[in-house]
Amino acid sequence: MLAKAGFTLKEGTTYLDIHHNVLYVASRSLQGEDLKISAAKAIQSLQKSSFTTLFIALKHYHDKLDVKALAEGLILGDYYFHQYKHEAKKHQERKIFIAYSGSLYTQKKLEEILHDVEIISRNVNLVRDIVNTPPQDYYPFIMALDAKYFAKRDGLECTIFGEHLMQEMGMHAMLSVGRASVHESQLIHLTYRPENPKGKIVLLGKGLTYDSGGLSLKSADSMVSMKCDKAGGSAVLGVMCSLKALNIECEVHGIIGAVENMIGGNAYKPDDVLRAKNGMTIEVKNTDAEGRLVLADCLCYAQDEVKTFDYIFDFATLTGASIVAFGNHTMAVMGHNESLKKKINAAAIESGELVGFLPYNRYFENELDSEIADMVNTASTRQGGAITASLFLDRFIKEENKKKWLHFDIAGPAYAHKPWGYNPYGASGAGVRLILQFLKNITK
Ligand code: BES
Ligand code: ZN
Ligand code: ZN
Repeated sequence: MLAKAGFTLKEGTTYLDIHHNVLYVASRSLQGEDLKISAAKAIQSLQKSSFTTLFIALKHYHDKLDVKALAEGLILGDYYFHQYKHEAKKHQERKIFIAYSGSLYTQKKLEEILHDVEIISRNVNLVRDIVNTPPQDYYPFIMALDAKYFAKRDGLECTIFGEHLMQEMGMHAMLSVGRASVHESQLIHLTYRPENPKGKIVLLGKGLTYDSGGLSLKSADSMVSMKCDKAGGSAVLGVMCSLKALNIECEVHGIIGAVENMIGGNAYKPDDVLRAKNGMTIEVKNTDAEGRLVLADCLCYAQDEVKTFDYIFDFATLTGASIVAFGNHTMAVMGHNESLKKKINAAAIESGELVGFLPYNRYFENELDSEIADMVNTASTRQGGAITASLFLDRFIKEENKKKWLHFDIAGPAYAHKPWGYNPYGASGAGVRLILQFLKNITK
């Protein structure tokens, strides 16, 4: 029957036998990414049907079933963003039963696994919603409102700084980027403080709610989808929302620079020299390299205000060059601490997110020297652009924090122009699962 219906063992192939109410899906294995992808395809194949209940019961191989991957694939795979269709489709509620009679986990362990995977996957979907929301409806003030709302709901402290307060702090690099926007820039600081924390980590996010490129205007084609430039900041929000429910035993600071990069009579210009919070001066060569200007001030703020911490990570859709280097699925990670990168690599493998590491070398060092200021904001060549962008940020990391810092360029995986695996068209929620896995690992 399956052969007749054209069902093959190619990954993700599905066949719905409506006479017997049975759904078949081909999977490479019952583990990890293989299972997530097939679970996603299975749930997607039901989206147009009227089935609202799904029983998953394996006849054989119980011990091989990766329950976490199964649930993650089902929740992440069932995502779609239809809020802007004129007939907004109500998200179909589904009951899913997983029968498990293997001996790998106890009942309690299973419940724990399902609880955690549900929190994480739902917050990945929340990040997808935020990033997919069009820029006319999602601008810095809305991001700040969201942060306040999440803080109240999920047990976080929240401080918001508007432009006046940023002026007082001397954050002129970030302020310049947002100057031509009708929307006021917002610096968002969320804090999660568990009792007896086992460590302290700072997460920074680039929250460009729109990046037109500024006066170094993007081309018509490359401007499309630049609502995704808030993906780093949104990922930080998604992580912060998960901490209490996951009982993470680490103090976590989430700091987001929410800004819109626009054109106008008062726009910042190529040739301007900006003074960052730490007094360093930056000659602007290209207003489209705005993310690093925002992050520079946020990095200064974080180090000045949080003062001591174990790790400081920043997340940003920073460069097209990182996509040239690694493609659309892999984020580029850079930093000075090799053993920390190994920990990130382990968390990546466990969480299913894809990371690649780009190397520094001494020959990049002078690329950002300026004739008239302390540095320029873009190197003279595009080659190695993800690395030079990272080295710009490095100039704002204090000596004592060099080994605590990693930079995550998520420009590739943050936003998909066509679906892949269990990622839909549009925002993917990149970074959330990776960092939550890392936090779990360092406190266990
Ligand atoms: N937000 C972009 C980077 C980007 C590109 C994100 C594609 C997602 C998809 C960033 O602000 C930018 O424009 N970077 C420039 C830097 C250049 C001017 C040195 C780039 O990558 O072209
Ligand atoms: Zn830009
Ligand atoms: Zn940008």
